[in-house]
Amino acid sequence: MSITQEFELIGMQKASEAVAYTLKEMTKYAQPGMTTKELDNYGARILSDFGANSAPYLTYGFPGWNCISINNEFCHGIPSDKRILKEGDLVNIDVSAELNGFWADNGGSFVLGEDINQHQILVDASKLILKKAIDNIKGGVQISDIGYLIENEAKKRGFKVIKNLGGHGVGRSLHEHPDELLNYKNRFDQRRFKKNSVVAIETFISTTSTYADTLNDGWTMIGNKGGYMAQHEHTIVVTDGKPIILTELNGIWN
Ligand code: CO
Ligand code: CO
Repeated sequence: MSITQEFELIGMQKASEAVAYTLKEMTKYAQPGMTTKELDNYGARILSDFGANSAPYLTYGFPGWNCISINNEFCHGIPSDKRILKEGDLVNIDVSAELNGFWADNGGSFVLGEDINQHQILVDASKLILKKAIDNIKGGVQISDIGYLIENEAKKRGFKVIKNLGGHGVGRSLHEHPDELLNYKNRFDQRRFKKNSVVAIETFISTTSTYADTLNDGWTMIGNKGGYMAQHEHTIVVTDGKPIILTELNGIWN
């Protein structure tokens, strides 16, 4: 969406606060021994307290409130009472929700407890790359230049990017135009970021894979060549200067 009136900014701030606070609290709540279903239920209660609804459920009929993906699962993992979190797991939580007709989206990967599987380096790269990408977005900047920045920063650190996942417009629905804000330079993409537009910027930084495939459950995505992936995501408003980071409260950069 494009923000043209005060009530739209306020609506987006409220929806963003709900998803950011929920992501932050779920990240703190996650513990070894807990099932991903318990973690999802916790997030569902927080969103409900805000009066917010699960965006993936509303939009796609996702079987859960939040996407929780563990280790080799890249994204869209289904909360399950059979999936138990372990020390050192690479966990990704993605929280997106609708509140009073406004939609916001954010996510983050983290290492659960001690980093016994050496995932932290990937997580830190993804966080830093998201920061660099967002710092470089303003009205008029070419979308593909930010894609180039993300891929280049990943390469410098020995990582790859997932080519079939990307950021997207957000605001009046979960996925809006501009869609396919990809993590690499698409030379055919002449689009530019527009001032006042609301977009979800997300990294997909991986160790070995360059594409994500969907498992037979119809939701969970894993790498075409295996390995691990870290994702960090903020919903922002594009301006003439530094973007307004609507989901800053999630603390994914801390
Ligand atoms: Co998103
Ligand atoms: Co998301």
